[in-house]
Amino acid sequence: MRVESISTEPLRELARKRLSGKVVVAVMSGKGGVGKSTIASLIAILTARYGETTLVDLDVHGTSIPRAMGVQDRMHEVSKEGIEPIKVLDNLGVISIRGIVGSKYVVLPGEREGNVMEALLAFANYGDSRFVIIDMPPGMSDELLVLGRVTRFTPIIVTTPSKQSLYVVEDLIRYLIDAKQQPRYLIVNMSYIQHGASIIRPFGDVGMAYELGKKYGLSIIELPIDPSLENYIGSIINYRGELLSKLEQIVRAIIEK
Ligand SMILES: Nc1ncnc2c1ncn2[C@@H]1O[C@H](COP(=O)(O)OP(=O)(O)O)[C@@H](O)[C@H]1O
Ligand SMILES: [Mg+2]
Repeated sequence: MRVESISTEPLRELARKRLSGKVVVAVMSGKGGVGKSTIASLIAILTARYGETTLVDLDVHGTSIPRAMGVQDRMHEVSKEGIEPIKVLDNLGVISIRGIVGSKYVVLPGEREGNVMEALLAFANYGDSRFVIIDMPPGMSDELLVLGRVTRFTPIIVTTPSKQSLYVVEDLIRYLIDAKQQPRYLIVNMSYIQHGASIIRPFGDVGMAYELGKKYGLSIIELPIDPSLENYIGSIINYRGELLSKLEQIVRAIIEK
């Protein structure tokens, strides 16, 4: 073997190999606090009904996934195959830096953050997982590039109807289109609250989201504010509310692809 043919990027290569052939879905938004982790958890719960699923928490600071699933005190085991997902269902395992650092907080400069994300993607043992669902951190820096370097993915973009969120999300959509990762879905989370027969829109009209959808060829899925959701933090696998049923259409489309 010629020396120059040896990869100078072994981690990236490993991540690429491990993810090849899997259906990778990335739940993303330029913004924080819009519901990415919640939606990534629910999508993973839904895909697990169809096939083995690994849910990867790439938000190395937020680490909401282990808390949503109630496994924040469990640590990853490491086998010959790599970091073993923490099982929350027979068909659903979670990978998160929380399962490596325990209760310590994580402070990382930007480029290190990208390295940690890449390492998690490379060392995770996805086993026979058909689906890999990725909970992305907010922001539009290295985190966006890391994933694109190792796999193709179906982006699912999450926003609230607020203009501030939509402005950031439009940049993300344009970036993804330029990177040849045309997104198909824009989830407008916390769009409305159903109160008896009436619908309240706390952020006002959602017209701007529909305009974005039209402009960039995205299907819009509006999700309500569900006050019961908070009761399911720690046991989100037991959640049966409206968010879950509304996300089924996306999951069905991903599976049929
Ligand atoms: N549709 C919703 N209805 C009620 N609460 C929600 C909804 N979506 C998200 N939340 C709550 O909002 C908070 C932020 O959601 P999260 O999924 O952590 O956002 P992100 O990952 O984008 O930062 C969480 O407490 C979550 O339970
Ligand atoms: Mg999150």
